[in-house]
Amino acid sequence: MANWRIPLAAVVVQAVLSRTSQALWCNCTTAQCEKTGSQCETDGACMASTSLIDGQEQHIRVCITRDKLVPPGQPFYCRGAEGFLNIHCCYTDYCNSIDLKVPSVTTSSGLGGGYGPGGTWGLVELVAVIVGPLFLLCLLLLVGVFLYQYHQRAYNHRQRLEVEDPSCDHIYLPKDRTLQDLIYDLSTSGSGSGLPLFVQRTVARTIVLQEIIGKGRFGEVWRGRWRGGDVAVKIFSSREERSWFREAEIYQTIMLRHENILGFIAADNKDNGTWTQLWLVSDYHEHGSLFDYLNHYSVTTEGMIKLALSAASGLAHLHMEILGTQGKPGIAHRDLKSKNILVKKNCNCAIADLGLAVRHDSATDTIDIAPNQRVGTKRYMAPEVLDETINMRHFESFKCADIYALGLVYWEIARRCNSGGIHEDYQLPYYDLVPSDPSIEEMRKVVCDQKLRPNIPNWWRSYEALRVMGKIMRECWYANGAARLTALRIKKTLSQLTIQEDIKV
Ligand SMILES: *[C@@H]1O[C@H](CO)[C@@H](O)[C@H](O)[C@H]1NC(C)=O
Repeated sequence: MANWRIPLAAVVVQAVLSRTSQALWCNCTTAQCEKTGSQCETDGACMASTSLIDGQEQHIRVCITRDKLVPPGQPFYCRGAEGFLNIHCCYTDYCNSIDLKVPSVTTSSGLGGGYGPGGTWGLVELVAVIVGPLFLLCLLLLVGVFLYQYHQRAYNHRQRLEVEDPSCDHIYLPKDRTLQDLIYDLSTSGSGSGLPLFVQRTVARTIVLQEIIGKGRFGEVWRGRWRGGDVAVKIFSSREERSWFREAEIYQTIMLRHENILGFIAADNKDNGTWTQLWLVSDYHEHGSLFDYLNHYSVTTEGMIKLALSAASGLAHLHMEILGTQGKPGIAHRDLKSKNILVKKNCNCAIADLGLAVRHDSATDTIDIAPNQRVGTKRYMAPEVLDETINMRHFESFKCADIYALGLVYWEIARRCNSGGIHEDYQLPYYDLVPSDPSIEEMRKVVCDQKLRPNIPNWWRSYEALRVMGKIMRECWYANGAARLTALRIKKTLSQLTIQEDIKV
């Protein structure tokens, strides 16, 4: 009995998955869709939303990709907020062509609740005259704040909300019951930068922590539960506030969301009077890091290519600058390594730990923070970082340093690839040349002076996939950063390899 139940369940799951993964056409109102005739294609859902912004109705229609439909069953993207936003997700062609009605604003209880004790002094009318418009102003301010989040960075909104008059709180966070109704995602209407801050806070504060899954220099990582789904919670110690802040800021960069970059859900700082708890909430991936994964499992040729291609896709998206108002700046990671890449259920990678990343402002050709000399993990530092010849005013040089690290990660993956029954044990790059926890000096001697690189075995040449991987690695490891491949080039080469090897990605 029990034996055939599992395959049967697998078949059912398969059937559901294949049905939902069919391409779907939706109406689309964003600027990017103008080229495609105001329509878009997706593997997820169509969404229509109507909101009341500054007293004006805004109708927005967009595509939502399948990986964004989290948590399953009640995706953030498909929820409205009472009084402000009406959202409809659907799953048939052009089903979001409908016109939704603006939800009615029910603020009367909120307005009447806290005020109006009905004092008997003569100023009652005056108070009413002042307080009435004040509340309207509060409401407008609120809507203004929502709009602002399209353009402002995390720091700005955080401060803004911190100084907000507490008397406004009960309007948008009325009672426990309605808190949950307020969860929705402004990013669907354009910016792609994540949930509004107060929603993030609400989500974060309703997570139940389950077990610790990791420890690092910044603090701890926990698995948590939120409405029946798993989330990962990175808890920073209070003295790491800057790292927490920086990472939250980077994750909320406009248009950063990508299937191969860890999905950010919320940032929250809980101050309980004596100490501050700093949380970053993200998608949870049970396989854990690529480092853990490769330690436990060897991979097939197909698995290797999928891991490598998805990592390159994530890095290419990170590096890429997208122009336009809905654009995204180029971002360099600066701490790429197998421990900072997660493995998703489908054996694709998601790049994580963006705390050391830098963003490029192409208009002024500047980098958004003063990049300090040598950050990141010494073992993965590019030669120009080790010997401090890197040109730190030039954003491209940080991208080249990322590529060097990606090459090392590829070497770690390729060693675990099972070809013709052979695969090697897991090792960190340079395991045979430097001690564990090497110093910069030790790394510099090996990488810059002796110009050594991890060994690419000759037998890899007999297998096409490994041969290509080996070639990519060599071209990631040139001493001259500018000569290295770009993430986009690697992505293209590996895409071709998937066609040659007949791999579905
Ligand atoms: C949605 O798209 C279809 C097909 O392109 C079009 O006929 C229809 O008018 C669109 N609806 C709206 C509301 O734009």
